[in-house]
Amino acid sequence: MNKTIDISRFRERGREYLTTGKVQNHKEDSHPRVASKAGGARIIRPPTVRDGVAVHDLIRACPPLDINSLYCNLLHCTHFASTCAIAIDAADGESVLGWLSAYRPPAEPETLFVWQVAVAFAARRTGLAHDILDDILAREACRGVVRVGASVTATNVASLGFFESFARRRGTHVEIAPWLDESEAFQSRHDSEWSIRIEDIEAGHRPPIRAEHSNPRDRGPA
Ligand SMILES: CC(C)(COP(=O)(O)OP(=O)(O)OC[C@H]1O[C@@H](n2cnc3c(N)ncnc32)[C@H](O)[C@@H]1OP(=O)(O)O)[C@@H](O)C(=O)NCCC(=O)NCCS
Repeated sequence: MNKTIDISRFRERGREYLTTGKVQNHKEDSHPRVASKAGGARIIRPPTVRDGVAVHDLIRACPPLDINSLYCNLLHCTHFASTCAIAIDAADGESVLGWLSAYRPPAEPETLFVWQVAVAFAARRTGLAHDILDDILAREACRGVVRVGASVTATNVASLGFFESFARRRGTHVEIAPWLDESEAFQSRHDSEWSIRIEDIEAGHRPPIRAEHSNPRDRGPA
């Protein structure tokens, strides 16, 4: 892996991009924290083939995420369903509030690599992204996972904030390093993606007592 850099340097780079206008796909997420962290009840479960279109639509509504082909989202909902999750509003049983796609890289199966996280505007800052990632990590499909990997662009404040917060909750920290370079890898079609690694994810974590596919907020204290 490339050499890690200091997170404050990474943040500085993001600010530079924003002030110079050198940003290709960023839109600030300025949603205020909601008063209650509890939010409404939601069901978190692995996706099925019938969720593909709704997932595709949610991602389209969540810039700066890259919009994938519908076929790609259907692969997540089928081949990668055991390491992906969808969150549904329990009140109506159908509104899609959140999505997280992840997989265990074949050459590094002890890592859960998070590809995309998307939470509907109305459900943001209620802890939903945390709940979805916790749900996946608690599954049998993640037995043996010791770290979380991901990538972020320098200007995606919400994304970095989410991974830092996740690391804090697990008693660990984020390591960041250059990865897919804007010129070399993306050939100027996309901002650089920086690699994130969060080691020792079980260090400060009390495993939740949970039945698969249910809403962690309905489970009571672990
Ligand atoms: C990033 C995103 C998934 C977070 O979802 P969320 O459900 O609102 O996140 P949570 O409520 O679980 O918050 C978790 C942490 O994320 C951080 N966070 C969330 N939104 C943030 C924002 N706008 N700015 C800074 N930090 C933010 C907070 O630190 C929070 O931790 P805290 O509770 O310790 O304060 C959501 O903002 C989103 O869908 N953004 C657009 C798509 C995107 O950028 N996805 C990430 C790329 S993979």
